[in-house]
Amino acid sequence: MKTIRLGSRGPQIGRLGLGLMGISAFYAGAREDDEGGIRTIHRALELGVNFLDTAEIYGPYVNEELLGRALAGRRDDAVIATKFGTIRHTAGDAPGLDGSPENVRLSVEGSLRRLNTDRIDLYYQHRMDPDTPIEETVGALAELVKEGKILGYGLSEAAVSTIRRAHAVHPVTAVQTEYSLWTRDPEAELLPALRELGIGFVPYSPLGRGFLTGAIRSTDQLAEGDFRRSNPRFVDGALQQNLRIVEAVEAVAADAGATPAQVALAWLLAQGDDIAPIPGTRRVERLEENVAADAVVLTAEQRARLDALAAPVGDRYADMTPLGR
Ligand SMILES: NC(=O)c1ccc[n+]([C@@H]2O[C@H](COP(=O)([O-])OP(=O)(O)OC[C@H]3O[C@@H](n4cnc5c(N)ncnc54)[C@H](OP(=O)(O)O)[C@@H]3O)[C@@H](O)[C@H]2O)c1
Repeated sequence: MKTIRLGSRGPQIGRLGLGLMGISAFYAGAREDDEGGIRTIHRALELGVNFLDTAEIYGPYVNEELLGRALAGRRDDAVIATKFGTIRHTAGDAPGLDGSPENVRLSVEGSLRRLNTDRIDLYYQHRMDPDTPIEETVGALAELVKEGKILGYGLSEAAVSTIRRAHAVHPVTAVQTEYSLWTRDPEAELLPALRELGIGFVPYSPLGRGFLTGAIRSTDQLAEGDFRRSNPRFVDGALQQNLRIVEAVEAVAADAGATPAQVALAWLLAQGDDIAPIPGTRRVERLEENVAADAVVLTAEQRARLDALAAPVGDRYADMTPLGR
């Protein structure tokens, strides 16, 4: 696995990471096979996939606990990224946005305990809190850096103006936002700003929440309770129209001698050595398939075909309000 430095001040990581969310939350199959999830994490480390992405909200809590168990005795092999800010520990652990310094401090203690570690490599604010100025949140994060509890911090789904304000208080290590063949929004403003500031970029849902792999061809395939059933791109009607994107990816995959998942990841990797996608899977065989994208090189013609894909039908989330603040 090719390694990169995440931004100009981040850790050295395998350029493909692993998203752990689906092992414990949001997608069908979550929490059904913790041991399988742990095997997937161990295989990832063997393959050089050391950048592991979790959050306190995944479960909640159980995903961090699972990662802590998986890393027992091998903490130094991994670069741990986790997230705070969508559980209000200041208000009885209620769901809600909270970037207050008090919540930052309460959150980090819980994550350190569950992860069974003395430090978090990258600590993201998961969503911006409209009621707490970013300078106050970052002030608290900078103290955690000084104390050695976190080695750096990041922001997820933040506006460029917020990133600049945060960066002025204490340098941001990385920004995490959805980016994939069917979510190209970061290209206009976000990516150029991150490059200017030397901030790493972590595309989440790089496989379009599984859609770009071709494995999901109807809404009925998604079990009750699966988050995607109510996602505007997956609902009946939109999903059928979006299949033309999958068909185009499948056509490129056939030409490239790769799978659609590998093509989706190879396209992202071709965008630059400063980005580190975190495809999610619970399964060893899919991890191995995805990791092999590191060796897939698309031709200029194949990339051009992918660049020209039509935009999808449907927003990224049913409620877009908490994004891009
Ligand atoms: N910051 C944020 O707000 C935010 C939001 C969403 C996600 N994330 C992070 O980003 C990570 C990745 O995003 P994601 O999990 O939403 O979406 P994703 O990586 O685009 O896709 C994951 C889905 O694709 C399936 N999959 C994986 N590899 C496959 C393959 N080769 N063939 C067929 N299907 C495959 C997985 O199913 P199986 O597990 O069954 O293989 C899972 O359902 C998450 O785990 C999480 O850490 C962050």
